[in-house]
Amino acid sequence: MGKGSFYLTTPIYYVNDLPHIGHSYTTIAADALARHERSKGKDVFFLTGTDEHGQKIYRAAHDGKETPEALVDRVVDRYKQLWGRLSISNDDFIRTTEPRHTERVQEIFKKLYDKDDIYLGEYEGWYCVPCESFWTAGQLTGGNCPECNRTVERLKESNYFFRLSRYGARILRHIDANPDFIQPEPRRNELRNRLLSGADDVSVSRQSLPWGITVPMDPEQTIYVWIDALLNYITALGYDDDGERFNRYWPADVHLIGKEILWFHGAIWPAVLMALEIPLPKKVFAHGWWTIEGQKISKSLGNAIDPVTITEQYGVDSYRYFVLREVPFGMDGNFSYTMLVQRINSDLGNDLGNLLMRSLTMIEKYFDGRIPSPRGSGEESAGLIGCAAGLETKVDKEMDSLQFSLALETIWDFIALTNKYIEDSKPWVLAKNDRPTLAITLYNIAEALRLISIYIAPFMPETSQEIFSQLGIPEEDHRQRTERRWGALTPQTGIKKGKALFPRIETSAQPA
Ligand code: MSP
Repeated sequence: MGKGSFYLTTPIYYVNDLPHIGHSYTTIAADALARHERSKGKDVFFLTGTDEHGQKIYRAAHDGKETPEALVDRVVDRYKQLWGRLSISNDDFIRTTEPRHTERVQEIFKKLYDKDDIYLGEYEGWYCVPCESFWTAGQLTGGNCPECNRTVERLKESNYFFRLSRYGARILRHIDANPDFIQPEPRRNELRNRLLSGADDVSVSRQSLPWGITVPMDPEQTIYVWIDALLNYITALGYDDDGERFNRYWPADVHLIGKEILWFHGAIWPAVLMALEIPLPKKVFAHGWWTIEGQKISKSLGNAIDPVTITEQYGVDSYRYFVLREVPFGMDGNFSYTMLVQRINSDLGNDLGNLLMRSLTMIEKYFDGRIPSPRGSGEESAGLIGCAAGLETKVDKEMDSLQFSLALETIWDFIALTNKYIEDSKPWVLAKNDRPTLAITLYNIAEALRLISIYIAPFMPETSQEIFSQLGIPEEDHRQRTERRWGALTPQTGIKKGKALFPRIETSAQPA
């Protein structure tokens, strides 16, 4: 049964430097969403990749005394390894140096030129290399880049321009008519204000910058790295010579990005798509920025933590849980080891890990390690079963609006309720005087754990697998691993109690 497609993307990351927690954040969020949508039966296409051209990378290679080719090949592996380590389930990984991308970018550039959406002009103004952005004097703040506050460089060159001015008013109308298009609301308002103050044509080529895709009608020039990069979202789908993939997935359901690149995704990208007469993405969601122990992540401060180091010490799922639970998606957040350890010990260790351990211990002790066969579901269980029944709608709604932290809160409310159910029903007392109710109670607890495992799977895939396996539900038992209705757990299944899920961490020391 077709439930429709779902196409989601992350920004493609620059490979001038190694990935840090900021990059991993967007990709983890995208992964949780992709897994959630797959669990709803959607035909998901989840794209990530790397942005490999431009002056910043050219310079980084030069400074490191290597060729740009060697640099990008070296760093792209670090990204791929990291995504493997973080259980990222992307369906494709696009590199902007691949011919499947470069060739299509050239065709698109030519198409826009032939339509007079691109023309040759003269650029005179400022350029921020770290942001790869053109700025007018009036846009600078205190003479620096208004985005990253770093020094800008003066440029005067003959450039190709894209007629953004043709599309500004149309984009504004689209934003107003589609409140979901740019999210969250404060970011939409910022974008609207900037569009209202004018959308001038933008330079889309660079003269004498050799590290880029050659402008097809002018070999002296390379295509501006942001135009090159944005087009990845359609070149990866084969636009426009592989109609099948493109028609199946476009328009994108969500472009996930950080808030600093909203102008490119909310103004320039829609304008390019309008010029190409392609429908716009359904949603662009700009999330907030992480600081580390209160400070901006920066090369000069040397505080960019390697996610591999964190996950080696604290575990992959703990890290995934932490970044999505700690900060409402869309807001800025602060990473601190103290908070990470606190969440691991309380939410993961106490609430979830202990719940599994104590439940399985009781099943071992009272029912020889087999899930009991209940007769009826017990009056005292109405609250628990009622809450389980409401979970799906609630979690779906929160995931639809990309409120990952709320979805996790909802799941943890259910975990808390299951713990309370144990306290209230006191299986250790029932064991002495009421075996039938004990069977019902322990069945219900195990069933609650099965559901918890289903709901946490998009966020914590390994932990979910571990809970299923400790409950004794085999990997190929698709029904028990996906059925959200109460009562699908098969009685008499032999449990396989294993290690504690999240052993207590005594120290909050930063990894060496
Ligand atoms: N190459 C461009 C994007 C092109 S998309 C067509 C780029 N790359 S980047 O390597 O600088 O990555 C930027 C993205 O990384 C942000 O938009 C965000 O998704 C993520 N983050 C980088 N630092 C971050 C934080 N400190 N906090 C949260 N996310 C941040 O821009």
